[in-house]
Amino acid sequence: MTATTSKTWQILAKHARRMQTAHLRDLFAADPQRFDRFSLEQGGLLIDYSKQRLSAEVMSALAGLWWEADLPGWINRMRTGEAINHTEGRAVLHHALRHQGTRPILHNGLDVMPQVHAVLDQMRRFCNDLHGGKWHGATGKPISDVVNIGIGGSDLGPKMATQALAACQVPNLRVHYVSNLDGAHLATTLAQLDPSTTLFIIASKTFTTQETMQNAVSARDWIVEALGEAAVRRHFVAVSTNLPEVARFGIDPDYAFAFWDWVGGRFSVWSAIGLPLALAIGMENFERILAGAAAMDAHFFEAAADHNLPFVLALLEVWNSDFLGAETRACLPYSQSLELLPRYLQQLEMESNGKRATRNGQDAGCPTAPVLWGEAGTNGQHAFYQLIHQGGRLIPCDFIVAAEADFPLPGHHEKLLANCFAQAEALMKGKTAEEARAEMEAAHVPEAVIARLLPYKVFPGNQPSTTILLPRLDPYHLGQLVALFEHKVFSLGCLWNLNAYDQWGVEYGKQLANRLLPIIEGRTPADGLDSSTAGLIAACRKP
Ligand code: F6P
Repeated sequence: MTATTSKTWQILAKHARRMQTAHLRDLFAADPQRFDRFSLEQGGLLIDYSKQRLSAEVMSALAGLWWEADLPGWINRMRTGEAINHTEGRAVLHHALRHQGTRPILHNGLDVMPQVHAVLDQMRRFCNDLHGGKWHGATGKPISDVVNIGIGGSDLGPKMATQALAACQVPNLRVHYVSNLDGAHLATTLAQLDPSTTLFIIASKTFTTQETMQNAVSARDWIVEALGEAAVRRHFVAVSTNLPEVARFGIDPDYAFAFWDWVGGRFSVWSAIGLPLALAIGMENFERILAGAAAMDAHFFEAAADHNLPFVLALLEVWNSDFLGAETRACLPYSQSLELLPRYLQQLEMESNGKRATRNGQDAGCPTAPVLWGEAGTNGQHAFYQLIHQGGRLIPCDFIVAAEADFPLPGHHEKLLANCFAQAEALMKGKTAEEARAEMEAAHVPEAVIARLLPYKVFPGNQPSTTILLPRLDPYHLGQLVALFEHKVFSLGCLWNLNAYDQWGVEYGKQLANRLLPIIEGRTPADGLDSSTAGLIAACRKP
């Protein structure tokens, strides 16, 4: 069965027709308790979804999907290590990476926790050695720069979190991230660095990804040229599930940090993929991130549908995308430190649920993950907010902000909060023609000018938003926040009946790139190509 054929779906479609004509400003005027009714708090994290275009009836119908989509059953299957990634035959156990208790977590009948703890111990020792200068480069100099080479899940999570927690940064160590196959990324990074004080982390779940392996080989050449072949063991460590390939690259097996096929790439920041992050902020802070995520796991696994933060976020997505017709969602962190969150969530949400085929191979029958985009506030206000206010498209927005500043410069944070809340308010209320006219009249604008300007000064409003308020952006609350989105993604997979843990769509492009490479290198003829691809290759080859 697809979600759209369910009874609740039909009820929701009726509610949606009614809500199409409702305006948020009227909903707020009619119910002074709206904020209390439509906000949730868990472990200090507040979610205000009162500015969403919904009513108590809509929420209660949506919450019925908890049983209809069998969330309790899917949660249980995930927790017990069933291969819910059915197209790859893999379990989904990233929650084990941050599990805090002594309860075993089983995979194929074996407790995974001893191996999780062993890698955490290995990471802790390595962080201590590197921070303490015990781990040094081949010439005996301490490491001043760490370069993580990885892409997708082996890059976006640790990079986002390293920037998010810049306030916790360990002194005298810079951490860089290189992902792009374009040589400009590696070359411009290396240009700032000294080989004798640089350590590379080659991070790849498969250790076969083209971008990562090409960057790793070029980085290796750079070290060998400066310091000789023997230096590779002092300047490279790796994180992977493919330890034989790591050894073939020449990395000391004692400094190969393992993880497992039950950790999806985009869910791997909690594993040794977080090593560059642990080096940047210290292992204790890394473990606080894990504790925050574990608290969100406990909440998600236990809370009832209407109080379950990740599930409620998932319901809002279903409501906006499938019933109100939103095609995108804007992620707007009012935090320079969270600047990379939209990019991280793009992979997490769109690679997970940007799919058509349901678990039983049918078409989903409704739009699935919306296009996610965004930018840090207040920068976005001076770029694309104009379109959100007056462009006529339905664009649900997520505002994410911390009550306390992570870099408390006098005068900044209050203004940041004022801008964040003002944008959400303006999008909700809009401005009527009467209000715009009254404002101009109060400013003694002549009637002829009022008549001319009035259409431009009207804001339709009714643009839905959710505000996620953190007490402060620290490791614990970042862990909570990221796990919140992970479980939202899981919930959406259940609601749309999708496997959120495979990514077949990414493979086709890789396959074609492998076919074109020998043609571009001039090793094979350009036979059988469409005229556009052939024309572009020929144009690149022109002397
Ligand atoms: O983009 C496809 C993908 O498989 C992602 O899911 C993954 O995070 C990324 O490539 C990198 O893969 P790996 O860690 O194996 O290099």
